[in-house]
Amino acid sequence: MRAVIFGASGRLGRSVVHAFADMTVTGTAFSRSTSGLATVDATAADDIERLLGRDQPDVVVNCVGERRPAVWAGAPAQARDRNVDAARLIAEAARRCGARFLHISSDYVFDGKTPPYRPGSLPNPVNTYGRWKLLAEEAVRAACPDAAILRLPVLYGPVQFAAETNLTEIARQVGAGARVELDDVCVRYPTHADEAAEVCRLIAGALLHGQHLGTVAHWSAEQGFTKYQMARLIARRFGLSADHIRAGEADAVSGDRPIDCRLDCQDLPAALHPARRRLFHAEFPPVVEPWLLPARPATS
Ligand SMILES: NC(=O)c1ccc[n+]([C@@H]2O[C@H](COP(=O)([O-])OP(=O)(O)OC[C@H]3O[C@@H](n4cnc5c(N)ncnc54)[C@H](OP(=O)(O)O)[C@@H]3O)[C@@H](O)[C@H]2O)c1
Repeated sequence: MRAVIFGASGRLGRSVVHAFADMTVTGTAFSRSTSGLATVDATAADDIERLLGRDQPDVVVNCVGERRPAVWAGAPAQARDRNVDAARLIAEAARRCGARFLHISSDYVFDGKTPPYRPGSLPNPVNTYGRWKLLAEEAVRAACPDAAILRLPVLYGPVQFAAETNLTEIARQVGAGARVELDDVCVRYPTHADEAAEVCRLIAGALLHGQHLGTVAHWSAEQGFTKYQMARLIARRFGLSADHIRAGEADAVSGDRPIDCRLDCQDLPAALHPARRRLFHAEFPPVVEPWLLPARPATS
């Protein structure tokens, strides 16, 4: 079996490549091109067609996206293209080459006012990123009606730079010691990227066996935390002071962050649940430790 993973240089894509190790995998990168990854602009139809024409994959996974608020604000057209156009172009190309297609979406398609959200719950994004993720879902459905769409909450795992995930950025702030206020209202469900990737592999397997899943699936860790709670947890675990961190409500009062987008995962068939649920309390210490002291190098 052959798989093409678009966005393989990203936080989720790196885990997805590992989870698909039983297949012949081509991973793609854009700015973070390293050996072993194909450089592809996923907003350019020709690039995508060329790669899929060459590889003739059985399954395609789209982990391309732009989730950095600074880019949404500074280069909105580019960020929109990465979230919406790339999804449409990859879906069209996957259908044309006869591959099964899995697209990654986000809990931010919901407004966060009435959790939990099932796959059939009505999306109502409150910010631009959520609207793009919803537009991408619609484009994928139109271009490739058999595609599977997996919505995920905030992810964590080993990173290449602190700001690559919310959790490691919070760890950096705990370690840096400068006064900072962190939101203590909006609840997130940090989910290990390897666990999410395992679900991607299981869904791909089901697609390849012709199993009908329904278009949209949800996966999420069960435990919720605010950013402030995560900071306190990190400080306590490593015996650090958290006196410089104050509880605030900046994300909640801004109006563009959903309060609680808890995803209900019970519609996903039990056979597609990962073999091991990764518990946040057990998994977060080695992920954050390299970022508590700014001078210490990252592990991956
Ligand atoms: N991380 C989360 O907390 C989270 C939560 C829910 C859903 N999601 C969704 O999951 C997906 C993956 O997220 P992630 O966290 O892994 O994102 P990420 O770490 O920012 O990675 C994004 C990927 O997209 C690639 N990319 C960006 N622009 C591209 C372009 N023009 N052409 C080709 N590739 C391009 C990047 O390549 P380079 O880095 O090489 O430029 C990278 O591989 C996204 O759809 C995101 O919305 C993420």
